[in-house]
Amino acid sequence: MTVVALSGIRGGVGTTSVVAGLGFALHLLQQRVLMIDLHPRNLLRLHCNLALDAEQGWASVDQDAEGRWNEALLQVVEGLYLLPFGQLSAAELGALAQRQQTQPQEWPQRLQTLQAHFDWILLDLPATLPAGQAALPLLPEATLRVRVVETDAACHALLSTEGAGDDLLLVNRFDPISQLQRDLLLLWGERHAQLIPQVIHRDEAMAGALAWKSPVGHYAPDSLASHDVRSLATWLLAQEVQRV
Ligand SMILES: Nc1ncnc2c1ncn2[C@@H]1O[C@H](COP(=O)(O)OP(=O)(O)OP(=O)(O)O)[C@@H](O)[C@H]1O
Ligand SMILES: [Mg+2]
Repeated sequence: MTVVALSGIRGGVGTTSVVAGLGFALHLLQQRVLMIDLHPRNLLRLHCNLALDAEQGWASVDQDAEGRWNEALLQVVEGLYLLPFGQLSAAELGALAQRQQTQPQEWPQRLQTLQAHFDWILLDLPATLPAGQAALPLLPEATLRVRVVETDAACHALLSTEGAGDDLLLVNRFDPISQLQRDLLLLWGERHAQLIPQVIHRDEAMAGALAWKSPVGHYAPDSLASHDVRSLATWLLAQEVQRV
C-alpha cells in the first residue's frame, strides 16, 4: 500500500495527465488503485469520462458535515477508483483552506483509512497552491513524492534555485529531437540521483487522451506515451517490492 504524491515543479507540466495514465497502467498490472484529486481546478475527473458538469467531489460533499467526503468515491473500472475534488465557489475554497490549516491531520487520517483497500493511492496535487503544499509534509510515511518536470530552461532554473529535496523527479513531455532537452536530461541525470530512469515522451496521444476523456493507456494503448507510462508503473512496482 503506497501513497504517491505527484505535483509539478510548476503548473502545466502534465501532472494530472500522468496521474490518470499511471493509475490506469497500475490497474493493468492488477493493482487496486485510487486516484485522488487534491487540485481545486478539479480536472482529473475529465480523464475518467466524467461530464464537465459533474460537480460532486470530496471537497463539495464535505462542506456541511464531517465524514461525508468518501461519498464522492467513483469506480472508473473494476479495481480503479477516483475521488474528484468537486466544484467549489471561491468562498467555499476559502473555507476549505481555513479548515485545512486548523485540521492539518484530516487528509493523513483519511489516507490511513483508505490504505487498507488499495495497493496504490495516487494524489494529484497542485504545483504551488497553499492547500496542496499544506498537505504534503503531513502525508503518511509510505508516501513517495514525485515532482513532474519538463526538460526546459524554466524547470532547470527552478530545480537549480529551489531544488526538489528527496522527491523523485519525473520528466514529462520529453522531445528527443530537441538538443536542449537532451542536454538537460543528461545534466539532470548527473546532478539529481533521484531522477526516475523512465521519461514520458511528448506525444499527441497524451493530448488526445484528455480530449477523449480517458487515460492514455486506454485511449491509445500502443502509443509511445502509453508504453512510457506502463514502464513507469512497472518501475514503481519494482521499487515498492524492493522497499518491502
Ligand atoms: N507527454 C505529453 N505529451 C503531449 N501532451 C501532453 C503530455 N502530457 C500532458 N500533455 C498535455 O498538456 C496539457 C496540460 O496537462 P495537465 O493538465 O495534465 O497538466 P498539469 O501539470 O496537471 O496542469 P496544472 O498545473 O494546471 O494542474 C494537457 O492538454 C495534456 O493533454
Ligand atoms: Mg493538474
